[in-house]
Amino acid sequence: MPIKSRIRSIPDYPKKGIMFRDITTLIKDPVGFRLVIDSLTQRYLENGVDFDMIVGIEARGFIIGGALSYTLGKGFVPVRKPGKLPADVVSQEYELEYGSDKIEIHMDALEKGTRVLLVDDLLATGGTALAAAALVEKVGGVVAEMAFIVNLPDVGGEQKIRDKGYSIYSLTDFE
Ligand code: PRP
Ligand code: ADE
Repeated sequence: MPIKSRIRSIPDYPKKGIMFRDITTLIKDPVGFRLVIDSLTQRYLENGVDFDMIVGIEARGFIIGGALSYTLGKGFVPVRKPGKLPADVVSQEYELEYGSDKIEIHMDALEKGTRVLLVDDLLATGGTALAAAALVEKVGGVVAEMAFIVNLPDVGGEQKIRDKGYSIYSLTDFE
């Protein structure tokens, strides 16, 4: 069974009109989880995207980014929801498909010029990914690529992010 058919869709969550793409059904299946991590690992072993660090976005980006850091032998830097990181932070507010939020990174998380693979489970409006990219850049890093399991192209994030010159890779699209 491919990745896409292992993802559950829940209508009207967390708000009416949102079709929630739930990756918990994908990753609770060890074959599904392995498929995700192996597919991403293969891409980054083979295709020559040059990066030294993985930055994962709380919460679902930690699951994918953590495993990928291990398979690729890269360090992992967390981007977290407000108030969770203990040292000095930089913050960024952003709009979500269903509300607004704020994320943070440690000020000293990246050496200047560090090339980063930004990882999250899903791309919708692109607000989260662009806010995370802004944080990476504020602390001196460079975004080499953004990787997702799911892309929702109709919501518009992919186009918005590509228009800003970032490179995107995703394993599956939902209309
Ligand atoms: C979800 C998802 C992405 C973001 C994508 O996270 O994991 O991070 O939304 O949406 P966007 O492209 O419109 O910004 P959410 O904020 O629900 O947090 P969670 O991972 O903690 O559940
Ligand atoms: N994050 C933002 N939009 C989402 C959606 N439709 N499904 C799952 N996570 C999301």
